[in-house]
Amino acid sequence: MSTQARTLVQVEGLRVVFGRAARALLRPSTLVVAVDDVTLTVDRGETFGLVGESGCGKSTLGRAVLQLVKPSAGRVIFDGTDLTGLGERAMRPFRRRMQMVFQDPIGSLDPRMSVGEAVGEPLLVHGLKRHADAMDAVRELFGLVGLDPDSTDRFPHEFSAGQRQRVGIARALASRTEFIVCDEPVSALDVSIQAQIVNLLEDLRERLGLTYLFIAHDLALVRHLSHRIAVMYLGRIVEVAGKVALCEDPLHPYTRMLLAAVPSTDRRRERQRPPAVVRGEVPSPLNPPAGCHFHPRCPQAMRQCRAETPALRQRSDGRLVACHLHH
Ligand SMILES: Nc1ncnc2c1ncn2[C@@H]1O[C@H](COP(=O)(O)OP(=O)(O)OP(=O)(O)O)[C@@H](O)[C@H]1O
Ligand SMILES: [Mg+2]
Repeated sequence: MSTQARTLVQVEGLRVVFGRAARALLRPSTLVVAVDDVTLTVDRGETFGLVGESGCGKSTLGRAVLQLVKPSAGRVIFDGTDLTGLGERAMRPFRRRMQMVFQDPIGSLDPRMSVGEAVGEPLLVHGLKRHADAMDAVRELFGLVGLDPDSTDRFPHEFSAGQRQRVGIARALASRTEFIVCDEPVSALDVSIQAQIVNLLEDLRERLGLTYLFIAHDLALVRHLSHRIAVMYLGRIVEVAGKVALCEDPLHPYTRMLLAAVPSTDRRRERQRPPAVVRGEVPSPLNPPAGCHFHPRCPQAMRQCRAETPALRQRSDGRLVACHLHH
């Protein structure tokens, strides 16, 4: 297969900046570089995991990939088309093909709309079904995500959190979606329900040939379902690798720190595990450290790390890492 055919989403040098630059001494800058020069590719049919601590820019990156926030620089190429600068009209077919599943389905569902209407709306908006046929399609979607097809007349508050997330997923699928940004889709759910939703997403990906960008702060979860994983720290991607390589042989000291905080499922290994060393707090994104953003927390920081930003470079084995220890 050519690279063109294998890659579904290509992100090049993407940057998203919020806020205002300082205009006077008493008006300090409120600029936050939420996404800082991010380059990555997502292959067709894969689950590409994105992990990092709260505030590192995961959601903003996901939204920028879907063109829901306007990037200040860089490009997003979806299935060979550069989405940058497309007008709303030209974007419309891509809005149909790319969707988002949110952490909080209640916040993304209109409480006055029946769940059937919520799921059917994209069908009508994108002209995929006529009104008369939409309800049959909705019932089919309900069945697909494990909801009772006879419950389409009910309202979001009549459902449990897990069922509401199934509604959110059905809505995301309605427009014959190919690519879904799953933004912490199970973080708000009870642990017992999390596995059901994760299994549903996995099953749907296989059956419908979907591609996911799966965002979570929980590395254990991302490890479970991703093919490749990118680790993000203060707006930048610091490491990308296949999940086995990343979890068994992490290269970046930050990836190692995240992994050290994940409990092992192996009891014996768990007993032998040294206490997790999560050093320090995440610095303010308003005033990130110079050089490698991670250097104040890094046990292996060198002088160079304080001054020079390490580029995300590909090693001979294909792995990507942004760390002076590995260049
Ligand atoms: N609309 C906005 N206006 C201004 N700043 C924003 C906006 N959205 C996000 N930010 C800032 O951008 C940075 C990245 O936020 P983002 O929500 O993308 O992080 P995240 O990794 O998704 O965090 P979490 O794990 O808490 O969801 C944060 O510093 C946040 O305060
Ligand atoms: Mg987020």
